Amino acid sequence: MARGGSHYVCQSCGAFYAKWQGQCTACGEWNTLVEESAPPPVGGKKGSSAPRARGGGLDFVDLHGSSAPAPRRPSGIGELDRVTGGGIVPGSAILIGGDPGIGKSTLLTQLVARLAETGARCAYISGEEAVDQVRLRAGRLGISAAPVALASATALRDILPALETDNPPDVVVIDSIQTMYLDALDSAPGTVGQVRACAQELIRAAKKRGFALILVGHVTKEGAIAGPRVLEHMVDTVLYFEGERGHQFRILRAVKNRFGPTDEIGVFEMTDRGLSEVPNPSALFLAERRDNVSGAAVFAGMEGTRPVLVEIQALVAPTSFGTPRRAVVGWDSGRLAMVMAVLDARCGLSIGAQDVYLNVAGGLRISEPAADLAVAAALVSAYSGEPVPPDMVVFGEVGLAGEVRQVGQTDARLKEALRLGFGRALIPARRAGAAQGSSGLTLTEIDRLAELVERLAPAEDNTWRRKLP
Ligand code: TYD
Ligand code: MG
Repeated sequence: MARGGSHYVCQSCGAFYAKWQGQCTACGEWNTLVEESAPPPVGGKKGSSAPRARGGGLDFVDLHGSSAPAPRRPSGIGELDRVTGGGIVPGSAILIGGDPGIGKSTLLTQLVARLAETGARCAYISGEEAVDQVRLRAGRLGISAAPVALASATALRDILPALETDNPPDVVVIDSIQTMYLDALDSAPGTVGQVRACAQELIRAAKKRGFALILVGHVTKEGAIAGPRVLEHMVDTVLYFEGERGHQFRILRAVKNRFGPTDEIGVFEMTDRGLSEVPNPSALFLAERRDNVSGAAVFAGMEGTRPVLVEIQALVAPTSFGTPRRAVVGWDSGRLAMVMAVLDARCGLSIGAQDVYLNVAGGLRISEPAADLAVAAALVSAYSGEPVPPDMVVFGEVGLAGEVRQVGQTDARLKEALRLGFGRALIPARRAGAAQGSSGLTLTEIDRLAELVERLAPAEDNTWRRKLP
């Protein structure tokens, strides 16, 4: 039973309960309820006996007005500025999430060092590592000389007074929010209540004193920033730092940004001297491509305003157990099932009974439907054993009727392919009257998925194809 002033909070979704129960009825997770004392009331407790102070009312204004665009503090790290929309906005709160060991601390150490060298006053507060460890990293990165104020602390009681001075720093990094605690709460650091209350206090201080606050957040196995989703609602910008641990590529992605775009990515490479920018990711993603291997197709995708070419690899193998396996890295497995179903129903390609593996090379995650056609090309090639021509890029959306649909920014995709030395493109048929500018590539325009199968595996030798009624 809850004692006076405490309640139970689901560590997965943040739902409140008056008494303990085994399963959270809000999100269905088991054993996630943890007792926490009530957070300090904001603006008077409901039902408290003290009368509420009367508010001052609101002054409504018009939608149009002369507000200046948000001032920004560019970091000089181009890939980071691209994702934040041109630099860090003073007074804003940024949450950066990612798996342990992916390089969050490295990126932020490099960021504060760069900012400090341009004259900004930066504070780096580490709750995870001792001062010596952070110094060691800075030494390895070759940035020890930067005038960054470094501290190792976890108690907000100590941290807040240092920030809430009349002359606060310009940028404050908290690494990580899960290690911080407020001693007004009984619960352990990292629990929903602590994380939420600490973030609230820090954000309040940032807004009041006008410093930019960067919070590091851990990511759970499921990929959400650990603890409360509420943290994502409280901050202005949410960035995810992702990548496969075995690969050296790291991708910084904005999933929420009140001051900029959310579809841009920044690409970095982890080297022995920290993270270095990759201004030309396509060349990197294609660097280890082998020609004339079946089951691979190059997709010309868009990430925000930037075209990115990646290789999509597929493998079709006999099933050794009853249920065929599907393993997908870097793409949506539901979308794979759809493309396979269309190949089966509209093109007579029964892959369904076999194991299918799909991989986006280099650790990129693709969410564009425009990758459908490239995935289909990789699958057809894997199934038939016929390689996709090595100088060909593929893009287009596939519909359930087996039609190939138009996608946006065709010209930008083709231009990038030409720049990287590709000679051919397999693309959706363009509408009559659409701008048919010369792209410099040999274009093959198709409007049915079956045409792709015909082209990649000509009819005379595709005995593996089922006759369609
Ligand atoms: P780190 O920034 O500590 O990760 P996070 O804060 O996200 O947990 O990065 C840790 C990994 O990065 C570690 O495995 C070592 C590697 N690394 C390099 O490869 N080169 C470097 O220069 C640095 C500083 C780290
Ligand atoms: Mg770290």
